[in-house]
Amino acid sequence: MKIEILDDHETLSQQAAGRIVGQVRAQPASVICCASGDTPRRMCRIVADEIARQHVDFGRVALIGLDEWLGIDPSNEGSCHYFFRNEVLHPWKLREDQIHLFDAFAHDPLVECRKMDQLIRERGGLDLMIVGIGMNGHIGFNEPGQPFDLYSHVADLDKTTRSVGQKYFKEKTVLTQGITLGLQHLLEAKEVILMASGSAKVDVVARALTGPVTEQMPASVLRRHANATVMLDKEAAARVL
Ligand code: F6R
Repeated sequence: MKIEILDDHETLSQQAAGRIVGQVRAQPASVICCASGDTPRRMCRIVADEIARQHVDFGRVALIGLDEWLGIDPSNEGSCHYFFRNEVLHPWKLREDQIHLFDAFAHDPLVECRKMDQLIRERGGLDLMIVGIGMNGHIGFNEPGQPFDLYSHVADLDKTTRSVGQKYFKEKTVLTQGITLGLQHLLEAKEVILMASGSAKVDVVARALTGPVTEQMPASVLRRHANATVMLDKEAAARVL
């Protein structure tokens, strides 16, 4: 695992966007998984600008959404669906068939999980996975205490995730479960980038990178990955410098 420290969120976003564009240039049929949330939002816009500026062909990319809140309507602006439609699908000019998101209303969420696992397997695994880190160290909705060796699964959301998650919603929203790729997907991805920025993440980043590798701190799993890069801005990196 490598650590890259960038000046600020803008530079971090440019760096991560450059890695996505570079990946697609090198391998047009890449399978890319991306988190939603505040951290990658700017990166997604830069990717859109670069696609237009450099005329990069994203027509063979498969884009996989890392997770979704179970039971939250795709039209709700706090949903991961909403993020991917507005920040990725349209701006990157992808076709509907190129984007694969968990159905928050799947009749049987476990079947939905197996479908996602099968899709990833059939495409030859994830080429690039871009993730964030939650205030409790989660990646996707892999909450503290969940095993590292899970593929897609339904997760009971931890108290921190339920309260921090309110920032995405206009109104107070009951968040109880999520559906998410597992950390086994991350361990098997050919390349992983974890982005973190801002002073609020300073403690959790330090614990993930310098504390024990443990299922109690999901993001510490990155230290078991041979081709992982943690991209931090200076604020988030203050205790790992
Ligand atoms: C969202 C996701 C979450 C976030 C994490 C950080 O799809 O997978 O794990 O990456 O909670 O969220 P932000 O970037 O909003 O601080």
